[in-house]
Amino acid sequence: MQISPSILAADFANLERELARIAEADWAHIDVMDGHFVPNLTLGLPVLERLAQISPVPLDAHLMIEDADRWAPDYAEAGASSVTFHVEAATDPVATARAIRAAGARASIALKPGTPFEPYADLLDEVDMVLVMTVEPGFGGQSFMTDQLPKITQVREAVAARGGQIWIQVDGGISQDTIGQCAQAGADVFVAGSAVYGAQDAAAAVQTLRELAGRHTHGQE
Ligand code: DX5
Ligand code: ZN
Repeated sequence: MQISPSILAADFANLERELARIAEADWAHIDVMDGHFVPNLTLGLPVLERLAQISPVPLDAHLMIEDADRWAPDYAEAGASSVTFHVEAATDPVATARAIRAAGARASIALKPGTPFEPYADLLDEVDMVLVMTVEPGFGGQSFMTDQLPKITQVREAVAARGGQIWIQVDGGISQDTIGQCAQAGADVFVAGSAVYGAQDAAAAVQTLRELAGRHTHGQE
């Protein structure tokens, strides 16, 4: 069970200090938004490249940008250890995933809440992780969408049937109240923005989330 705090909820004037607060986490989740694929705008390559140099944990880049084929590999080159692109924004997801891996990063595909998994099931041969969005991408602090739980289980079962090690990430509205049901549904990497950075003690929040996730395993009550 891995925790990837989203810096979208951090203090953007003090990112080095904010990354130090989550030094015990597994990853730092970097939300890249272009103002087109999603209505919000955050940061891009030059900022991520600098963060990769100073972060105590590897960067988990979540690209919410158009033309993912063109840009995603550059985020691996810039230092992200995992690069997630949206299938809705890619025209050649196989080539894009291969280019990300060739650049030395883990490749991952993301699905918006309204996007079904089945048409993309064949991509399991090309990726290291699948991100099931549990809010509409674009903003932090939204409510968890319970109706995405069956999709998490569907991906978990497809991964199990195929064999091999593919992680399943959830992102959006993950908190102490919702992380257990996601773990039970089959997720094993958990993004949390407000639940970590909104806490007084971010390190303790990471630890609590990890423990809560660990209490629930897929297929068990
Ligand atoms: C939303 C982003 C999320 C966001 C999660 O589009 O992809 O990573 O930061 O924030 P919380 O955990 O507050 O829902
Ligand atoms: Zn995200």
